[in-house]
Order: sequence, then structure tokens, then C-alpha cells
Amino acid sequence: MVQAKILTDRTKGKINRAIYGHFAEHLGRCIYEGIWVGKDSPIPNTDGIRDDVAAALKNLNIPVLRWPGGCFADEYHWQDGIGPAEQRPRMINTHWGGTVENNHFGTHEFFRLCELIGAEPYVNGNVGSGTVYEMQQWVEYMTFDGESPMANLRKANGREQPWKMRYFGVGNESWGCGGNMRPEYYADEYRRYATYVRNYGDNKVYKIACGASDFDYNWTEVLMREAGRFMDGLSLHYYTLPTGVWKDKGSATEFGEAEWFTTLKRTLRMDELLTQHSAIMDKYDPDQRVGIIVDEWGTWYNVEPGSNPGFLYQQNTMRDALVAGINLNLFHHHCERVHMANIAQTVNVLQAMILTEGGKMILTPSYHVFEMFKVHQDAEHIPVEIESPLYTFGEESIPQLSVSCSKDAAGKLNLSVCNLHHAEGATLRVELSGTAAYSAAEGRILAHAELNAYNTFAEPGKVQPEALRSIRLENGVLTAELPAASVAVITLSA
Ligand code: AHR
Repeated sequence: MVQAKILTDRTKGKINRAIYGHFAEHLGRCIYEGIWVGKDSPIPNTDGIRDDVAAALKNLNIPVLRWPGGCFADEYHWQDGIGPAEQRPRMINTHWGGTVENNHFGTHEFFRLCELIGAEPYVNGNVGSGTVYEMQQWVEYMTFDGESPMANLRKANGREQPWKMRYFGVGNESWGCGGNMRPEYYADEYRRYATYVRNYGDNKVYKIACGASDFDYNWTEVLMREAGRFMDGLSLHYYTLPTGVWKDKGSATEFGEAEWFTTLKRTLRMDELLTQHSAIMDKYDPDQRVGIIVDEWGTWYNVEPGSNPGFLYQQNTMRDALVAGINLNLFHHHCERVHMANIAQTVNVLQAMILTEGGKMILTPSYHVFEMFKVHQDAEHIPVEIESPLYTFGEESIPQLSVSCSKDAAGKLNLSVCNLHHAEGATLRVELSGTAAYSAAEGRILAHAELNAYNTFAEPGKVQPEALRSIRLENGVLTAELPAASVAVITLSA
């Protein structure tokens, strides 16, 4: 029996709904095929954006969508993606498989996608191969209301009103694919570029500087020291690789208990990263004004055998569901500093929500976790005291349970629980301490007897949430049975 206590009257602050953000890059079949099929496609679409995918994404309440990259962002020249589609120049997507990019999905199409799914745009600008002038003009094109060269160009392209664009990234992975810069050099570049990312009218831009790759604490130190006061957010990228080795990351679907364990153990290191990067940021920003923006996270495996290595297509199993649940719980725990997170990537790439094949679409186990957890968006984080048993594998141990709780605007409590153990279930007993009384409990669970269970086009509903029937709520004590390798969300109401 695992004992826990929810401190219902205490809160650490709000769980910014932007933590439930996503990322869509011009990479493989994410944008083209996955989202954009063009207006003349036989696949039902609205203005070229496929209807099935847009409806599924809308159902996730996606708060914010990052685009156009990733590494692609630092090769992207936005003026190539405006105006009549047939006149847009074609380019080579050198980073991702050397495919021809026809630029049919550009600024207007991205904002239309955001409109259709109800997400806020997060645009990532080009520092690596772009210029300050080009970035300045893009912001003017998107957000200037009135008479100006770029606003006039936008109007000539059919969009009279400026768009609202709150989030803007100044470069991506500037330490790597975005220019191989040193932190001192990038900090100065950031200051220069960010100066010209203007606030027009009432469009106030939240400026995001390129942050560290996983454990590079020196990058955070230098950026905060040299440029902290010029930014609103600092990004962080951390991918979960089962082996920890880029050359052979491991298979998405062919794995055993050992790979299950190491994948979850590596996922839990997100906690260490958020703690350490926050501690450095605290030195320069004790009021926690600057947010950590985890704008790339998720699993990264060897590509699906037979698929283009540059397309990063991988399947998504119950293991990915656990990775999603653990990370989201950790973001909740660090909600005072984590302002946004964007899982990589929305459709057909890495830890995707959706996989497509022609006109068909399936939802992944990760999708179901995001759908179940959406109740936490903008809710008050509520602390949970828990003494989790250890999950021991070989010589190593990690906590068996990952939990977090929040209170929504209507006063309902939502408790999310991941049971990391590959073989052992857990009985959870939770006391509710505080003044509010709860009389009803219900829940949903995502679980499967096979650790590597996944949805396919032939069997799209193999992994999907079900009602959690083992819940009891008596005299202010909640009990529930959590099967091995499962993710659950339990809701308590008055
Ligand atoms: O998400 C795939 C790639 O991973 C992104 O383009 C890049 O930023 C990161 O290295």
C-alpha cells in the first residue's frame, strides 16, 4: 500500500497551460502530409490543412504551437513562404533528408493552422543563416497594424489585420545546428537580434533566447549573466534516448524490461535538469521573471526500419505514454520556473501525438496522456506528500510512482499518477488534508498488458484510456489500484 497525502489548501502557483505546448517542424512528414495536404487534396481539408488532424489536435486544447523548427528554423527565409504558392521558391531541406521544400506552408498557413486548432503561435526566428533585418521584417509583417512596407506586403497577400504573436524565439540550438556558437558570442548576438524584435501596437512579444542542451550548465550561466535582462524565456532541450547514445538510440517498439527501465530512469533526469538550471537562473533572476521554455523534449529512437533516416519517424508505445506522464508531472512540480514546454513533434516525427498514412490517422498513447492530463492546464498546483516505493531493476532503483495534483477553477482536484514498474501494480491510499470536502471520485487509466503495445492503422484502438473502476472515496480517503506500467488521472469533486 502506497500512502500519500494531498495538501488541498496549499498551492505552489499556477500550472501554465503553455506547458502543454507542441512543436511542428518542416521535417519528414510532420508539416507536409501530416498537417498540410494542400487545397486540392482528396483528403478532406480546410484551406489545405487536413481536417482529421486539426480536429484531433483541437481536442487536446493545444495552448501553443512552435514552428518552423528546430534546425530548419535557422535555414528558413520567411519571405520564401509568402505570396502565390506556385511562385514561391523551392529549396532543399538540407538538414532533414535533403528533400525539396516547396514553401507552400508558410506564415499565413501556420497562423491559419493555429486558428483552426485554437493554439497560440510560437514562431522561431533565424539567427544562424539569417540577418537582423530579415527577423525585424518578419515581426513587422506579422504584427504591424497600419502603414509600413511589411504590413502593406501582408495586406497585398490577403491578410488585412496583423496577427497576435506573443512568443518569438531568437535562434534555435545556436550551440549546434543553429550556428555552432559559443555562449559568449550567442549572448551578444541574442542582444542585437532581440533589440529589433519590436512590440507593435498592443502586441507584446515574449522573447525566447536559445538555451542549453541538457546538462550544459555553463550555457545557462553565461546567457543569464550576459543577456538575462533582455529575455523573457530561455529554452532547454532534453530528449530521452533509451541507450543515451546517439549512434544507436534503441528501437521504438522492440525492447524489454531493461530498456523500459533505463528509458524511464533517463526521463526522470528532467527533474535534475530543471532544478540545476533554475538554481543558476535564480542567481541572476531571483524573482523568477525569466521562464524555462522546454521547447523540445520527448523520446528519440532509431527511425522505423525502412523509413527515411532523415525523417525521424518512430512508433509510440506504452513506454512513451509513461515518458509523457512523468515529464508533465515534473513540469507541474517546477511550474514556478517552467513557463512553457513543447513536445517534439506533433505528427509523424519523434514522440508524435498522431501518425498518418495517406488519408488515415491514428492517435498514439502519448496523445491519450496529453488528452487525459489537459485538466491540469492553468490549474493551481497542489502539493502531494508521498513515500513512493522503489522500483529496483538490477543494481538500480527509481521511484515507482510519479504523481502530481492540481485544483481547477471549479474547485475539482485532478491527481495524475504514473506507475513506472514494468511488472508490479500498486495500491494507492491518499488522505485529503484541508478544508474542502470531496464526495465524488472518478478516473481514467491508460494501461496494457504488453509494455510495447502500440496503435497501428490495422488496430487503432489497441491502447486507449478506460474508466478506472477501482477508485473508492470514503471518509476523505481515496484508494485506487494502479496496474503495472500505467498512467491514470483521478478527479475528485464536491
Ligand atoms: O526535433 C528534431 C531536432 O532536434 C530539432 O530540429 C533540433 O532543434 C533538435 O536537435
